[in-house]
Amino acid sequence: MSDRNETFVLIVDDNTNNLGVLYRYLDDEGFTVLVSQDGERAVRLAREQQPDLILLDIMLPGMNGFETCRALKSDERTAGIPVIFISALTDVQDKVRGFRAGGVDYITKPFNQEEVLARIVAHVTIKRQREQLDELNATKDRLFSIIGHDLRGPFMGLLGALELLRDCSDDLDSETAQELIENLYGSAEKTYHLLENLLEWARSQRRTTTIAPRAIDVARIVSDAVQVFSAAARQKGVSVRVDIPDGTTCFADRDMINTVVRNLVNNAIKFTGSDGAVTITARSNSETVTIVVADTGVGIAPDDLCRLFDLGRSISRSGTGGERGTGLGLMLARDYVSRNGGTISAESVQGCGSTFRLTLPAGPTTEVEQTADS
Ligand SMILES: Nc1ncnc2c1ncn2[C@@H]1O[C@H](COP(=O)(O)OP(=O)(O)OP(=O)(O)O)[C@@H](O)[C@H]1O
Ligand SMILES: [Mg+2]
Repeated sequence: MSDRNETFVLIVDDNTNNLGVLYRYLDDEGFTVLVSQDGERAVRLAREQQPDLILLDIMLPGMNGFETCRALKSDERTAGIPVIFISALTDVQDKVRGFRAGGVDYITKPFNQEEVLARIVAHVTIKRQREQLDELNATKDRLFSIIGHDLRGPFMGLLGALELLRDCSDDLDSETAQELIENLYGSAEKTYHLLENLLEWARSQRRTTTIAPRAIDVARIVSDAVQVFSAAARQKGVSVRVDIPDGTTCFADRDMINTVVRNLVNNAIKFTGSDGAVTITARSNSETVTIVVADTGVGIAPDDLCRLFDLGRSISRSGTGGERGTGLGLMLARDYVSRNGGTISAESVQGCGSTFRLTLPAGPTTEVEQTADS
């Protein structure tokens, strides 16, 4: 189990002696402990304080332990907190009632302190693992819904155009055929991009991508990204300005940060109309490097801004020139950046533009990586 200091145990017992003994023992063992002498208060405390585990006596004034446990289990805010009964009642029937009321364990008094400790640790570990599994499962559900929703569209386009080519190819003039082929190509390209992003994200979730942090020349990585989209920017009439002091280095995984910067630059150009400007700057101190990608584009609505980086909740809009994306780029970016010990955030004013701020650990000022082509 991780740090005990962060493990919060609620003890419920009307006997001050018992309470004192358990409190001192768990406190000495490094747990954060809260106490209650009756069931009603215990339920209230559990709701407000969200302990990791509750040690619950059965014979309590007012609401007894079984009733208290049932009340906890019937409220979704407290249902997931494991309850261990700790009672002088040794009858098998009482133990069975305890489990039926929703308890995960039953310890009889007088108890052995080490046994109590071992059971607490075991149940808190199970609770944490269950929470992790729930989180992963929710992520997987969201991922499936993205796949179902977003892969369907381009495939319908592909199939429709192919059907037309198959059934009517003799009747199509070369211009229409060319248009169909362009559509086919666009759909295939979008589907492939989506698939690539999904696979990259799935790989990163399985933690099979190892992070290889090293000193990266920030100006270089930015100019590579700008290079990729410079034709698109020129075509749209968007000017791109880069202002990064020589020798600015961050310490991170090159491929991951490449992906992140490329998406930020792509987004900025994509969501900026003609005569707009994209400015990329970087500033560093001894600890961090902050790369700022600012644009004078369409901006982002406040409601969308707060879910930009969330899987399955993010929005994907077409760019000002009709460019389509997958809506996964920023989610991947957040994942990659946090795995490299950095942060990413966004500010925006609708109609005026957006600013994305990427902060990464600073690299040494010398020994910048040399790539084969540099
Ligand atoms: N600079 C920006 N200006 C305005 N809106 C933005 C900007 N950057 C991102 N967004 C909004 O956030 C959405 C999600 O961006 P993200 O990079 O995750 O996906 P995408 O660009 O749609 O797809 P992909 O990155 O796969 O090409 C975009 O579709 C857009 O609506
Ligand atoms: Mg994008």
